[in-house]
Amino acid sequence: MAALLEAIGLVKHYDVEAGGFFRRTRTALRAVDGVDLTIRSGETLGLVGESGCGKSTLGRLLIRLIPATAGQVVFDGQEITGLSPKALRAARRAMQIVFQDPFGALNPRMSVEETIMEPLLIHGARRSAETRQAVTRMLDMVGLPDSTRYRFPHEFSGGQRQRIGIARALILRPKLVVCDEPVSALDVSVQAQIVNLLSDLQGELGLTYLFIAHDLGVVKHISTRVAVMYLGKVVEVADKRSLYARPSHPYTQALLASVPVTHPSQRKRGVGAQPVIAGDIPTALAPPSGCRFHTRCPHVMPVCRTDEPAMRPVGTGHDVACHLVAPGPPM
Ligand SMILES: Nc1ncnc2c1ncn2[C@@H]1O[C@H](COP(=O)(O)OP(=O)(O)OP(=O)(O)O)[C@@H](O)[C@H]1O
Ligand SMILES: [Mg+2]
Repeated sequence: MAALLEAIGLVKHYDVEAGGFFRRTRTALRAVDGVDLTIRSGETLGLVGESGCGKSTLGRLLIRLIPATAGQVVFDGQEITGLSPKALRAARRAMQIVFQDPFGALNPRMSVEETIMEPLLIHGARRSAETRQAVTRMLDMVGLPDSTRYRFPHEFSGGQRQRIGIARALILRPKLVVCDEPVSALDVSVQAQIVNLLSDLQGELGLTYLFIAHDLGVVKHISTRVAVMYLGKVVEVADKRSLYARPSHPYTQALLASVPVTHPSQRKRGVGAQPVIAGDIPTALAPPSGCRFHTRCPHVMPVCRTDEPAMRPVGTGHDVACHLVAPGPPM
């Protein structure tokens, strides 16, 4: 598969106030701190990691919703980090986002029709019969009855609101959709419906997804490949099968071991769902030296405290940044 998007050395530092009550200083919060990532055309790349590790920031950088501190993003053959506002607006058509909290993302004073139509109007369409037809088609695609078009967000359930959010993101027929924890705020029973809908729409419309989630359980079915993020860095990326069969970074192993077990027979045997990673994620204001995971890693070695491990292949399409991993086999 060809690359639809390529990120090279992507960095996002937020300038924040830190320090005690008397001495406050401005410090760089390293939300994303040097990420190389490829998203292939037509795939779903899962992106997982604990809260605060930089997933949303990375997702937003990739589609240039926020400007990067350093690094480049090449989308569909075009470098987008340095685009002028006008060129950026044109490029944005092809890159959309679905948010975690559909209620927060929808304007409560706009009807469903207005909400879904708005991106078309922003991009120069007129309020015509044709535009309304496009909304009709979109409602049908996301499984909402046409009769809902004049209703308002508060009249819907969480799952239905997320369908509206998806319709709004897809009306411009983008190539890439960043799904930022699109099911995390929903009831478990509704989560699968929305994941299945996204999966069906991907097939119908030939979409490419970056699918962000906290844990490896959610992305397992929908992903083609999975990237694992820790404190501003991608520490492992692999084809789905390879990642779940041979997780190579101790952090990935820990994440995998903490996936909640939903099957009753396994739950009874006490399998899974152990909180295996000791301690909290360190602050992005002062990340640990060397390997950022060394403060919590059960296999920490002296080298981990001093040298940052580089990404190395451990198999075909499987890269990991860990000193435990010897350089990969010749390929
Ligand atoms: N606008 C901002 N200004 C300052 N710091 C920010 C800003 N946005 C995010 N951060 C910080 O950047 C880091 C990464 O945040 P981000 O939201 O990308 O994490 P995340 O992995 O998406 O977390 P979650 O799983 O909770 O959504 C966090 O430390 C966060 O506090
Ligand atoms: Mg987030």
